[in-house]
This record gives sequence, structure tokens and C-alpha cells, in this order.
Amino acid sequence: MAGGKVYSFEEVRKHNARKDCWLIIAGKVYDVTAFMEEHPGGDEVLLACTGKDATADFDDIGHTDSAKELMRQYCIGEVDAATVPAKLTYDYPGDASPENAPTGAGAWATTLLRLAAPLLLLALALAMQSYGKAKAE
Ligand code: HEM
Repeated sequence: MAGGKVYSFEEVRKHNARKDCWLIIAGKVYDVTAFMEEHPGGDEVLLACTGKDATADFDDIGHTDSAKELMRQYCIGEVDAATVPAKLTYDYPGDASPENAPTGAGAWATTLLRLAAPLLLLALALAMQSYGKAKAE
């Protein structure tokens, strides 16, 4: 592992190109520029992981021990944890959290639909049953 240099997040995020690509994984900084073309997962994913903490992305893949061994040679130092933004994920505004739940008439209609759906299905089943019986007679 090369040196114990500490980089700020701002510095690391500047290296976000195919020919100059740095990643932050578990507090360490990796210059994977030379590895881009060899990466079995492709260079696009590596590029997409620049400018953020890529620890979760790296872990989610379930990289093997040999991948973890391999990455050591690309480590160029550490990131100053104090400079890494706490939240880098995008909040989808239309999520289903309670504060986004419909209110007023919308909420009332939603509740009604939820209650009515099983009843409608039951009615349909009964109608089909009696239709079948009527046909058989
Ligand atoms: C220094 C960093 C990295 C190294 C050395 C590395 C190395 C490797 C290696 C050796 C493999 C082959 C499978 C294995 O042995 O686990 C692999 C697969 C893969 N990697 Fe990475 N990787 C790095 C970072 C990342 C990052 C940040 C992502 C972002 C999601 C990523 C996504 C993938 C994907 C999608 C595959 C293909 C998995 C498959 O098709 O089975 N890798 N990587």
C-alpha cells in the first residue's frame, strides 16, 4: 500500500474520468485508473462510483478475497472522514413515507378503494359461480 497520505473528499472527487479514476472504499482512496480496462465488472461501474463513498457499492457485489487482495495495490492513501458528506444518496421525492402519504379527499378515496377491492373480487366470484350454475341447469 502506497504511503499514508490523507486526501480531502473534494480532492478525490476531481478524479472522476476514465483516464483518471479514484474511488473511496472503506475510508481508503484507490487510484484505479490502470485497472479500468481489466476490471471484470467493467469500467462504467467504477466511473459511476467516483465522487462518493463507494463502500456499499463495492460490498454489495460480494467481491471475492482475491479482489480485495488485488485492490491493495491501487490504494494511494486515506480520505479525511471529516470532509466526506454524511449523506450522498438521492432522496426520491415520491417515496411512500408517511409525510408523503395522501391527505384529504385523496386519502379517503385510497382507503375506500382498499376496502372495496376484496369485496369486488368476492362479488365477481359469486357472480361467476351463479352464472356457472345457471348454465349447467
Ligand atoms: C479497487 C476496487 C475494485 C477492485 C480491485 C475490483 C475487482 C474486481 C474483481 C477481481 C472482480 C471479479 C470477481 C471477484 O473476484 O470478486 C470484480 C467484479 C465486479 N466488480 Fe469490482 N472491483 C473494484 C471495485 C468495484 C466497484 C466500486 C464496483 C461498483 C459497483 C464494482 C463492481 C463490480 C461488478 C459489477 C463485478 C462483476 C460481478 C459479476 O459479474 O459477477 N467493483 N471486481
